[in-house]
Amino acid sequence: MQIATRSVSAALAALALVAATNAFAHGDVTPQAINISGLDPLKDSATWEETNPYSGNERAAEIGHHAFAQNCARCHGIDAISGGIAPDLRETLPLGTEGDEIFRERMINGAIRNGVTYMPKFDGIVAQEGLWAIRSWLETVSVDAPPKDAAKPEEKK
Ligand code: HEC
Repeated sequence: MQIATRSVSAALAALALVAATNAFAHGDVTPQAINISGLDPLKDSATWEETNPYSGNERAAEIGHHAFAQNCARCHGIDAISGGIAPDLRETLPLGTEGDEIFRERMINGAIRNGVTYMPKFDGIVAQEGLWAIRSWLETVSVDAPPKDAAKPEEKK
């Protein structure tokens, strides 16, 4: 009986440790669920898309703007205008597949070096749909994005 009690408290202590470690690994951020209603769900949300499936989708950008405010703005700045803590994603994240690749890599791995979490990973914590929605919004605020009042962006180039 004595032993059983002890192993239970050992298990509880181990659990508490896991919880504490997780809190630290998230870089002191509480990830917020993203409401993705209005977006077509991905066929397989466990496998990462190579490129943004919602690129140019206005509803996705709207969702992404809100989700960015909840999950990313505390480091990357409100409306992605960085105050210097983290890169200014309007400038550092290229449009198109190159930017998608950088984005994807960060969502999966975060930025963790020598055991220090500079940025938490979001894969498995926030739905992939919501993360690509953030990417869709980031595309609209990119320094390379066509101006909002451009008549027909597809006529360019
Ligand atoms: C705890 C702070 C923090 C949070 C929260 C955070 N980031 Fe970051 N992010 C950083 C830092 C710091 C870097 C630079 C990492 C490095 O030094 O390698 C970074 C890098 C990036 C990069 C790579 C930029 C580049 O120029 O290479 C992307 C993309 C990115 N973050 C997107 C996001 C998105 C999207 C979110 C929200 C879902 C987010 N981050 C949340 C701190 C954060």
